[in-house]
Amino acid sequence: MEATCSPCGLLLFFFIGLYASFQCCATEIDANQTAWLFVNASQISATKIQQTMFGISFEEINHSGAGGLWAELVKNRGFEAGGQNTPSNIDPWFILGNESLLIASTERASRFDRNEVALRMEVLCDEDGNNSCPAGGVGVYNPGFWGMNIEQGKTYKVIFYVRSLNPLEMSVSFIGSNGLQTLATADIIEADVSNWTKVEVLLEAKGTDHSSRLQLTTTKKGVIWLDQVSAMPLDTHKGHGFRNDLFNMIADLKPGFIRFPGGSFVEGEWLVNAFRWKETVGPWEERPGHFGDVWKYWTDDGLGYFEYLQLAEDLGALPVWVFNNGISHNDQVDTSIILPFVQDILDSIEFARGDAASTWGSVRAAMGHPEPFDLRYVAIGNQDCGRKNYHGNYLKFYTAIKSAYPDIKIISNCDGSSQQLDHPADLYDFHVYTNAKSMFSMAHNFDHTSRSGPKAFVSEYAVTGQDAGRGNLLKALAEAGFLIGLERNSDAVEMASNAPLFVNANDRRFNPDAIVFDSSQIYGTPSYWMQHFFRESNGAILHNSTLQANPSNSLIASAISWQNAKNNKNYLRIKVVNFGSNIVTLKISIDGLEKNKIQKTGSAKTILTSSNVMDENTFNGPKKVAPVTGPLENAGNKMNVILAPYSLNSLDLLRNSYVFQVTGSNSVQKA
Ligand code: AHR
Repeated sequence: MEATCSPCGLLLFFFIGLYASFQCCATEIDANQTAWLFVNASQISATKIQQTMFGISFEEINHSGAGGLWAELVKNRGFEAGGQNTPSNIDPWFILGNESLLIASTERASRFDRNEVALRMEVLCDEDGNNSCPAGGVGVYNPGFWGMNIEQGKTYKVIFYVRSLNPLEMSVSFIGSNGLQTLATADIIEADVSNWTKVEVLLEAKGTDHSSRLQLTTTKKGVIWLDQVSAMPLDTHKGHGFRNDLFNMIADLKPGFIRFPGGSFVEGEWLVNAFRWKETVGPWEERPGHFGDVWKYWTDDGLGYFEYLQLAEDLGALPVWVFNNGISHNDQVDTSIILPFVQDILDSIEFARGDAASTWGSVRAAMGHPEPFDLRYVAIGNQDCGRKNYHGNYLKFYTAIKSAYPDIKIISNCDGSSQQLDHPADLYDFHVYTNAKSMFSMAHNFDHTSRSGPKAFVSEYAVTGQDAGRGNLLKALAEAGFLIGLERNSDAVEMASNAPLFVNANDRRFNPDAIVFDSSQIYGTPSYWMQHFFRESNGAILHNSTLQANPSNSLIASAISWQNAKNNKNYLRIKVVNFGSNIVTLKISIDGLEKNKIQKTGSAKTILTSSNVMDENTFNGPKKVAPVTGPLENAGNKMNVILAPYSLNSLDLLRNSYVFQVTGSNSVQKA
């Protein structure tokens, strides 16, 4: 959200329409209310908000990564998802050709040690003769994650490993969802593939189908082994493998940090299925993949530890690495034998930060990133505080990490907001999932927490249950109120992120979520758009502000000064949530500014609201509930603003040549 003005007429029309739609329901609305907001915009008592205050929490949940942000189109590319015991299931691969034409099975025949399963296709038919193959050939196809998005004019890189004792004649094609339309195809002819051979081919699509499949077929008799079949669009973000539209959505949030890879995904239902970073680095072909048993799906781990760090760097966000501490939902490693797990995590930090000559830094360098990643935060587990071995395991991890990397900030799973932690930590994790009313009132949760101990990392917050629908305005407003409360308490709260971030609409494991997508479409829920109102808070200056309202429990406000990096202009931003069904006249009075320090031209008002508080966005109406920006013509030290019922409002007051110079993490001076 920027302080720009959309056409005034359009905006006026919008507000009149909105007002009229509320008026029509006047029986539900009490008389208009008045409230007062006093802002002290001087440097006295102003504080700096951390650069990392608002970020994102990325979890491999709802196919956020596999079948989502990670642009790989093939699902179960190495045939490992059915397990290591063969014969095994090859879901979602399909066989083209009946048993008289083709017999497909799995064998532990791969050339890769960590993922031994490969597909064996015994082709019984031939180009001619008694048992001739059908015109299109026989073979296999992969429908990807509920269909592959193949778009005309775009190029896709297909890689696969193949072996056969006969010369190879194979077609690789993208076929439309009806199974008939060939969108792109190439013939692969290799004289000798008697040893495993890597085949790489670029396919340019001649048509578009959002639900395509990748097909590998032949019309020649013989036995063919296939393994590690990948198809990636060439146009991923910087060629780093991130789907552009999904990447851009999160980049638009300007996140200060990115927490990864979970969430419960980190823990696993059982330790054997937890995220193990070493299994996710190195060449993609060699990664074993794993079954994430909390969210119940297989991931090939193309989006691995390296890619998460790369994602953070590409977003300009600090990575927050949440690692498994020897505890899953159902089993735990005893503290007496936790040291190998501790060493494993020290190795992960060396991978991220070690120089290119170090043991694990060299693995990173070999993956194309000789420079260290900027890893400054790690979290010891997820939601494990109450578990039997947490305390013991935590201390082992904490001590080892602090002694090797004293600057790394360590996050405990135990809530330090209501009582002091009984163990050392730099931050404590705080999660909240609740209904809309309690979320809004939790804005005051940190008002009285200690300012001397570790700060809070509110790494997961969301309105859930009936109030939230599939992500509606009510949810967004309650969360906005909560975030205003966190902003006002940014001396006690260092970071905050909504969860979950993404959902593939075909696999909604956890509802609601901020961003909804399928193979080709995407939209932000109101909660996603709400987060835009907080983007400029990272590194901004927080001012004292006091609200007087009667009753006051449906309004909350904050005031910050921020600088627009694009035009270097300075703004005083006042954010107010009206969480009630009344229209409120807010009388704003700003002290601490010299006269005429606010410019009317260039000041703007942005509002997030809708005619029904339960309204949601959809693929067909992706911006039904989205911010609308217009001019703020009465901008000044004293002004009245009308707050629509159930609305989030942001007033950006353009300031004349007013610059804050930050001198310390929590103090500011006027330049
Ligand atoms: O955000 C979804 C899930 O909720 C996370 O995996 C877990 O930490 C929490 O219970």
